[in-house]
Amino acid sequence: MMGIKRCALLLVMIGLIPLSVRATPGRDRSDERAVTDASGRRMDEAGITVTQRQIETDALSLHEIQQQGLLVFSVQFNAADGYGDGPEDSSDLLKMGGRTTLQGNGTFLRVHGLDGQSCLECHSILSNASTPPVFGIGGVGGSASNALVSGGGMDATAPQADFVGRFINPPFLFGAGRVQLLGNEMTADLQALKRVARANPGRPVKLRTKGVDFGVLRFENGAYDYSEIEGIDRDLVVRPFGRKGEFPTIRSFDLAALQFHFGMQPSEVVGANIDEDRDGVAPEIAPGPISALEVFIATLPPPEQTGTDREDVKDGRDHFANFGCADCHRPSLRTNGSILGLRFPEVEQDPSKNVFYEVPVGDRREDNDSDSDKATARNVPLFADLKRHDMGPALAENFHADFDRFFTTARLWGVADTAPYMHDGRALTLDAAIRMHAGEAQEASRRYTKANREKQTELILFLKSLRTPVQAVNAHTDNLLR
Ligand code: HEC
Ligand code: HEC
Repeated sequence: MMGIKRCALLLVMIGLIPLSVRATPGRDRSDERAVTDASGRRMDEAGITVTQRQIETDALSLHEIQQQGLLVFSVQFNAADGYGDGPEDSSDLLKMGGRTTLQGNGTFLRVHGLDGQSCLECHSILSNASTPPVFGIGGVGGSASNALVSGGGMDATAPQADFVGRFINPPFLFGAGRVQLLGNEMTADLQALKRVARANPGRPVKLRTKGVDFGVLRFENGAYDYSEIEGIDRDLVVRPFGRKGEFPTIRSFDLAALQFHFGMQPSEVVGANIDEDRDGVAPEIAPGPISALEVFIATLPPPEQTGTDREDVKDGRDHFANFGCADCHRPSLRTNGSILGLRFPEVEQDPSKNVFYEVPVGDRREDNDSDSDKATARNVPLFADLKRHDMGPALAENFHADFDRFFTTARLWGVADTAPYMHDGRALTLDAAIRMHAGEAQEASRRYTKANREKQTELILFLKSLRTPVQAVNAHTDNLLR
């Protein structure tokens, strides 16, 4: 359903893109490709030509790869590209491929995917702090962009609709390269600690990396004892992406997003020239465009803090620590370096394997300088610990499974601009978001609700100092469009 709001959003987004842009189909009316090739691949029309080889051999500059990635992120995939799933597979309705569509129309259901045509449709709001909002590429989505995963069993007329499945609000992608670098380094640390446990049977090994504790691991009687690990899977791979903490890298998320939202099948997932979803198109999307997409997302500028010299903001930051918020929302984690190695194919437990391209994720001024100091450690002020926590029954999702109550700590950088809050956008204000914390966060939330009005206000003012990179993102994107 396309409501008035959604139309307005798309119009504003189109307005963001200058007329002079190369390869922006439909805007430059002198571009004949868009009109003559009615049944053509939208990716071709957009000028997406990048190959994995060009990236690996440095045949393209970082800037050119980012430009290609921006196009992949923004292109409206169509049936000629491989959009959609082909005929219904009645034996497995939840499988990627053969999913049901509304009235069998072959295009959309919105529930469990086939729910958009471009990444930008859902990741498009740079700031919701102003009216009208500021739109921008890589941002959050409003609640109309929520994804409904494996949904079913809802009677919307019942007093309390029991939606079985996941209902999730799109986060922004700013600073994702830094987050991935932290995750990679933490995974490498944990794998090393696992080897320590293996070498010392019976000895409890503390799984601590960058000051974050993931419990204790033992190796005993020829087997690992995982009963005391916490907030992480048994493979000890840190997975920062996805609100449940399911994806270790941008690439792994993107592969899932392409299939889930669009039925676009990456050849690196289904095999080259295999038409797994039986929609008549193979191959659909090659490793080159996916690598470019990953480079584009990994180099999006990070959020910023403003107003740090204000007394009330400083006081709010103190309350944030004193209430215990910072136990999970760790103000910053420190990287070992500032260069992120992108891998293909990825070996989750070994982030150093199969690196094909390195991107700088250091300070903004270094973003275009891949020769900058590789060894320099950086503080990443993400306000999170890249760990999963039990948030109590009220926030739990509805698969009737153990993981229902668990979420990775939301990164609070940029939080001033990203309402609505919590995984499904149920909290419309920061105050409501804090009051919804329970489970492991019960005590911190209680300290907030019991504090006086002034302290609460200062805490909220502090959160409102955490901004998305409004200026920088627009400048960054304009720069890529040239
Ligand atoms: C229908 C809306 C929608 C579309 C279209 C969409 N996304 Fe998302 N995106 C989401 C939602 C919802 C989440 C949160 C998912 C979760 O928590 O598991 C998300 C999360 C992400 C994340 C993880 C961010 C993080 O910090 O955890 C990445 C990366 C991402 N999307 C990339 C993409 C790319 C690339 C595309 C296009 C191929 C895309 N998305 C298309 C809704 C969308
Ligand atoms: C036990 C760990 C933990 C503690 C302690 C904690 N949080 Fe959170 N916080 C989380 C998790 C996990 C989420 C994500 C919940 C979800 O997605 O539904 C979250 C979400 C949030 C959000 C919403 C962010 C968004 O983008 O949706 C805000 C704001 C927030 N926390 C602020 C606070 C404040 C302020 C405190 C202290 C009073 C605090 N948190 C204490 C774990 C914690």
